[in-house]
Amino acid sequence: MTIPAFPPGFLWGASTSSYQIEGALDADGRGPCVWDSFTAAGRIQDGSSAATACDHFHRWPEDVALLKDAGFNAYRFSIAWPRVVPDGSGAVNQAGLDFYDRLVDGLLAAGIRPMACLYHWDLPQPLEDAGGWQGRGVIEPFAAYARACVRRLGDRVKDWMTLNEPNVVAIFGYGVGEHAPGHRLGADGILRALHHQNLAQGAALRALREEGPDLTLGTVLNLQPTVPDSDRPEDVAAAARWDAVWNRVSLDGVMRGTIPELMADRMAGFVLPGDTELIRFPIDLLGINYYSRSTMKHEAGRPFDVGWGEARCRRWTGMAWPVQPEGLYDLLAELKRDYVNPACYIAENGCAYDDVVSPDGAIHDAERVLYFREHLESVAQALADGCNVKGYLCWSLLDNFEWAYGLSKRFGIVRVDYDTLVRTPKDSYRFLSGVARTGVLEGGVPGG
Ligand code: FCB
Repeated sequence: MTIPAFPPGFLWGASTSSYQIEGALDADGRGPCVWDSFTAAGRIQDGSSAATACDHFHRWPEDVALLKDAGFNAYRFSIAWPRVVPDGSGAVNQAGLDFYDRLVDGLLAAGIRPMACLYHWDLPQPLEDAGGWQGRGVIEPFAAYARACVRRLGDRVKDWMTLNEPNVVAIFGYGVGEHAPGHRLGADGILRALHHQNLAQGAALRALREEGPDLTLGTVLNLQPTVPDSDRPEDVAAAARWDAVWNRVSLDGVMRGTIPELMADRMAGFVLPGDTELIRFPIDLLGINYYSRSTMKHEAGRPFDVGWGEARCRRWTGMAWPVQPEGLYDLLAELKRDYVNPACYIAENGCAYDDVVSPDGAIHDAERVLYFREHLESVAQALADGCNVKGYLCWSLLDNFEWAYGLSKRFGIVRVDYDTLVRTPKDSYRFLSGVARTGVLEGGVPGG
């Protein structure tokens, strides 16, 4: 049996996002964001909030030590826009940037490459009040915020990503209302939110490039190879529409400066001359968040008349998401084929399970270990087949505030006790640590 190996210099690490881990929502002049409002409106399923979350804002040195002790060499975090520009546009709050300044210095001292993401869903509320991603009012403020961040941190942070999962923001935040800001605007609202995020990204990427010609610039997309639920023509057509919305409006926009043909008519009313030129940008590194495939069927009455079909899979996670590691291989192979083999890295991949704490305090999360192992096999196979994959960052370092699910879903490789805020590395932490240190996928479950 060959043991899959990863090249030297491969990035190994974990991802997090500001709102999900930091807490300290009132510290140092931070302004309100859409998730604060969504929480206040009682929209979080378990009634929890991110007011404390993992208290990473105060406990970050411990979290950096966890990354270091794992032997990781990379960490993706996000910067909270409402900390840096409390009103969304206008005055920059340097005190809000102080936190990231400290964090970045701590990461560099630990030998970890800081990879900063500018927008992981915490849209300043004043911008939402002015129309949010439904209009063009967010484009310039986003570029200005990006500039403020890179001016302060760009001497040390060399990797900058603009957005995280614009499709999830558009569909769940503006289309079906399950995420902040909670609008149910259907297909039109989804496409507008996608297009305006694309534009804001284009403007921000240009601002970043102006400020730092040497920076590695990119974005982070949640990509899911899409398959029809059956070979009935209406299911095949529905899957193609979903692929266009979920994957291609973002991907084709930045990589090719085009709009998928299937969506062109629906978007014609708000795409202006010059838009696609602004959206297209030669990014250096594409971040990919992979969780599963999408199995889609025709379903009248839903946005784009598309509904979820029945996924073919071996197992399900605690989110009832299908476990489909082969989909990650397919995705990387598709990117190589359709988008000229872009330099990319896995920016998120992971799973929630109902972890059990053993009497001795350990967390033997064998299902999560298996999940990582199988997905890493797909990455190793893609590498062997020539895909330009530069790294693998799991989701997530810590159990955290999982959006509308609140604190009830645990994605961490480190358990967080929300009463004491004590961190306990799970078996999956030791597993990924072993792979990161050796560059090979072998052995059983360390400590298991
Ligand atoms: C992704 C998000 C991330 C986390 C994981 C589970 O869609 O980017 O914040 O919620 O899902």
